[in-house]
Amino acid sequence: MNGEQKSSFQTWATHFLQQLRGVNPFGGDCLPTRVSLFGFGRPSLPFPHLWNYKEPIKIFETFYWDADKETGSGKHNRYLYLAGLPPVLLTREPAIIRAVLAATGDKPGQFDRDTSPTAGIARATGEDSLLYSNGPIWRRQKRLSAEPFSRSNLFQPEKFHGFEQTFRKTVAERLEALRARQQASGKKVIRIQLEPEIKVVMLEMLVNNFFGGHVSYEELRNRFVPALELLIDHMVSDTVAPISLTFYRMFTGGNAILKQKRADLEALTDIALSGRAQGLGLWKQFKSDAADEALRSNIRVFLAGAMEATNSFASWAISHLARAPDIQDRIYEEVKEMSVYDPDNLASALTLNRVLEETLRLTPALYFLPRRATVDTWIETTDHRKMFLPKGTQLRLDVWHANRCEEFWGKSMTGYPAEMFAPDRWEVLAKKGITSKEMLHFGFGHGPRFCPGRFLGLLEVGLVVGAVVKMFRFTAVNKEPKAKAGVSTKPADGVLVDLELRTQTVVKAAL
Ligand code: HEM
Repeated sequence: MNGEQKSSFQTWATHFLQQLRGVNPFGGDCLPTRVSLFGFGRPSLPFPHLWNYKEPIKIFETFYWDADKETGSGKHNRYLYLAGLPPVLLTREPAIIRAVLAATGDKPGQFDRDTSPTAGIARATGEDSLLYSNGPIWRRQKRLSAEPFSRSNLFQPEKFHGFEQTFRKTVAERLEALRARQQASGKKVIRIQLEPEIKVVMLEMLVNNFFGGHVSYEELRNRFVPALELLIDHMVSDTVAPISLTFYRMFTGGNAILKQKRADLEALTDIALSGRAQGLGLWKQFKSDAADEALRSNIRVFLAGAMEATNSFASWAISHLARAPDIQDRIYEEVKEMSVYDPDNLASALTLNRVLEETLRLTPALYFLPRRATVDTWIETTDHRKMFLPKGTQLRLDVWHANRCEEFWGKSMTGYPAEMFAPDRWEVLAKKGITSKEMLHFGFGHGPRFCPGRFLGLLEVGLVVGAVVKMFRFTAVNKEPKAKAGVSTKPADGVLVDLELRTQTVVKAAL
């Protein structure tokens, strides 16, 4: 046995003995409590398998089943510890989430991003991407992507204008098509699912504006969006049950379809890379002599991941607004005269900004953040409480439930119930002198592995939401905004709305 094998065996043996003796492997003054494997009346089993993997939020809920009778940190920090396996810790306590995210990185003893819930993503995109890698490879990728994505780069006035104009043109063309369809129907109101429309606009902005490509709307809609959708779906199932699904697809012809969709992603990656030599789009800000081949896995992640995340964000924002006509009107007042979306104008659209903040709080695109303890680790919260996590612990930082917990986000703290979509809670917090930096909702993560696409994403989503409100009034068909979750969360009804033109003006002029 070499040193590494010996150390893994020792870790395994420690876990196994602790499990036999029923010992809590965690320590300190934020002690998590144990979740048992079976329990009557619970929503699901507390781990993913072939029959429940499409309902991950339900799996997480199972961890908190009966947790209310616990006191202190055991109510929000729950662990599963099964025969020979490392402990799994699920937490919905913001202070713990923050401490773990701040202690994630490539320094000795820091947490890694746990790659086990994203094994399918790695097989589809490559293991050395910024999203998937850890340690020195992650650090190198991080350095490479820092400049093109940075706020100082994107929001430099003249660059911002150029970029914002091409984005706006894209959005304007799509809305114009939607308006024409609405008018051609001869009806005042049409019923439509908006998510499929938003998804194409998001990919179009990414491929044509960001990477400087020239792909037609039709090809994006009919070829590339379906390819990415199928691959993203496959990434989730491939993580949970890679072998049984491969067999299943062998008999149903699914493998040939998958092969074709992978080829489509490669073709799109080629298109995205082809702008590099001419310095098109944001490529001109990319300073590296790395070969194109070395960038491919990152490009695949940006294409699939960024479409997924921005689509989720914009779809949720529009879905929430479809149930809040008064807030739509307030945003309309802010954007109706806005002819230039520059950083100052965008910052002055208070309601729009609060809607975006509240959307990410209540319905974060990435609903949990996975981490792994690389060694025995102590973490400390900002109020000086400590937790010990044994080496190998798999952490699931459950942002979805943390942000819906009455104790942290409820009426007494923010003026509104935690589960309610209430952009004005940010005003209540501001009046109390509490900033969004203090009340973290982790919508873009936190700490060293914070989302590099944040400013780009906010710009895209702000533009799309502002432009839709400027042109249309929309009302949700379904009362409850139910969620579905895979790689990210989305409104389950595909943002089904009744859509009505606010004005008959041509969109391009109105934008
Ligand atoms: C606007 C919608 C977006 C949301 C809500 C979002 C959310 C997030 C979150 C929560 C993380 C942290 C994951 C973790 O800590 O484990 C993250 C990381 C990441 N995001 Fe985004 N993202 C968005 C847009 C984008 C865009 C537009 C891009 C690229 C073009 C992008 C690329 C990435 C990458 C590469 C990482 C991994 C960073 C690292 O591990 O160092 N994201 N994103």
